[in-house]
Amino acid sequence: MKVIMLGAPGAGKGTQAKLISEKYGIPHISTGDIFRANIKNNTELGKKAKEFMDQGLLVPDELTCDLVVDRISQPDAAKGFILDGFPRTIPQAEALTNALNKRNEAIDYAIDVEVPDEVIVNRMAGRRACVSCGATYHMTYAAPAKEGICDKCGCELILRDDDKPETVTKRLNVYHTQTQPLIEYYTKAGVLHEFDGTKDINEIFDSITELLGE
Ligand code: AP5
Ligand code: MG
Repeated sequence: MKVIMLGAPGAGKGTQAKLISEKYGIPHISTGDIFRANIKNNTELGKKAKEFMDQGLLVPDELTCDLVVDRISQPDAAKGFILDGFPRTIPQAEALTNALNKRNEAIDYAIDVEVPDEVIVNRMAGRRACVSCGATYHMTYAAPAKEGICDKCGCELILRDDDKPETVTKRLNVYHTQTQPLIEYYTKAGVLHEFDGTKDINEIFDSITELLGE
């Protein structure tokens, strides 16, 4: 099963992708998480990506497409994968389609999580992410058992650098201009499914599993 997640920053792509990955046993591939891991390890890719991410801009396609095409060719992705945060531009979607075409494959489901901009700005302020394993929480809607500490690995939870309100607004603008055209792209491909992302996390997941099957 090959799935992509679409939706604005903070729509809940990562939250749902993680649940899908666990239920269906396919790897969760988040380009944002890959870039953040590179920033943490101070790699060349991390240094380049940080310049764009901190400004709320997209990392250039040249740094992103090959990385994902290579990742989905790894053995653990042979039975499928869930892509979270990729594609984000039409050239990225075309690169993905071409890479899959070469293997006589295609995306099965494009899951679009819809949330109005006003709700998003509010959500991002409450998000906390683990510095070590990348797990995501929300101070109100998905709180950790112990404040400021990751349930999974016990490390510190932080506010992401790009979750400041002014950067969130910029990321939303980038989403509307560069990523939203993908809704039409995947509608035309016949695989787009829209979900109301303002509902409760588990309720959204139940609707997604109705689509993907048990
Ligand atoms: P990325 O890490 O992908 O960030 P994003 O798309 O901006 O999305 P987020 O991770 O912020 O939100 P999400 O939809 O995953 O929501 P979450 O589940 O965490 O990318 C970061 C940056 O990297 C980009 O800006 C760009 O610079 C670069 N980048 C990455 N991929 C790229 C690419 N392909 N090309 C170029 N550049 C790229 O949920 C948000 C919060 O809400 C959480 O606190 C969560 O607990 C809570 N929540 C979730 N669902 C609900 C719900 N139903 N109700 C209430 N609260 C909820
Ligand atoms: Mg995410």
